[in-house]
Amino acid sequence: MIEPGRSQVEMPAMSRSFESAAGEVRVYETATAACREAAERIARVVSDHQGRAVLGLATGNTPIRVYERLLELHRAGELTFRDVTTFNLDEYYPISPFDPNSYRFYMHRHLFGSVDLPPNQAHVLDGTVPETAAAAHCADFDRWVDEAGGLDLQLLGLGRNGHIGFNEPSDIGVDAALRLPTRPVELHPITAEDAAQDFDGRLDLVPRRALTMGTRTILAARTVLVLAFGARKAPAVAAAMSGPITSELPGSLLQTVRERVVWLVDEAAVSG
Ligand code: GLP
Repeated sequence: MIEPGRSQVEMPAMSRSFESAAGEVRVYETATAACREAAERIARVVSDHQGRAVLGLATGNTPIRVYERLLELHRAGELTFRDVTTFNLDEYYPISPFDPNSYRFYMHRHLFGSVDLPPNQAHVLDGTVPETAAAAHCADFDRWVDEAGGLDLQLLGLGRNGHIGFNEPSDIGVDAALRLPTRPVELHPITAEDAAQDFDGRLDLVPRRALTMGTRTILAARTVLVLAFGARKAPAVAAAMSGPITSELPGSLLQTVRERVVWLVDEAAVSG
């Protein structure tokens, strides 16, 4: 029942919630409802910071509807990005910002090109930096996040192999995995395989390297919103939520900051 005097805002339909070792899990009837909730939470963080929020953003198929909803809120005059600062998780390397598969292009198409976010407050790792400058560029990126005061909220997806950003599975051990800086990396074979669908199904066209925000910066975010939809993500979600904390499944590192993590998922992603 709608209370008198309250606006009839349609609330995203959540079917259930539970606590996991990797934080609170909220299960929605549809991915669209979960994305809507993610957008509302982002908008709330912006308003809690009087418009000056620092947001960590993600790409991929999963968050597209989050950006659609943010755009709606912006067009309705309920959300301004004028004083917001954003940092994207990752970018292929090398890649041109004009390549439709670059994450810079994705962000322009889905958000940046349609809102009032000043271009010099929207940071995406640069896929065009010279080889010899890539590591220094990544170090600069971490410094910019620090200078902005750290991330108020990080939006996160999960790779099928459990990666976060392009922090891929490895055998480096937990301590090292928790401290990884923003840096150049090589894509894991499963990541490259999944990315091929965006490159006309051609694995040979997928850049095998990338620049990624490090786990150190991601896990320091004051809130981490993790989105995962569909049965194909279920094994990685289950391992991240209840498997051992291991560098072999970077999503499991979220267990170390569980009090700051909220999962917004659909039923299929948690019914492994
Ligand atoms: C991509 C990106 C990640 C993203 C993940 C999931 O490779 N590097 O930042 O969260 O994989 O992608 P999708 O949402 O398309 O499943």
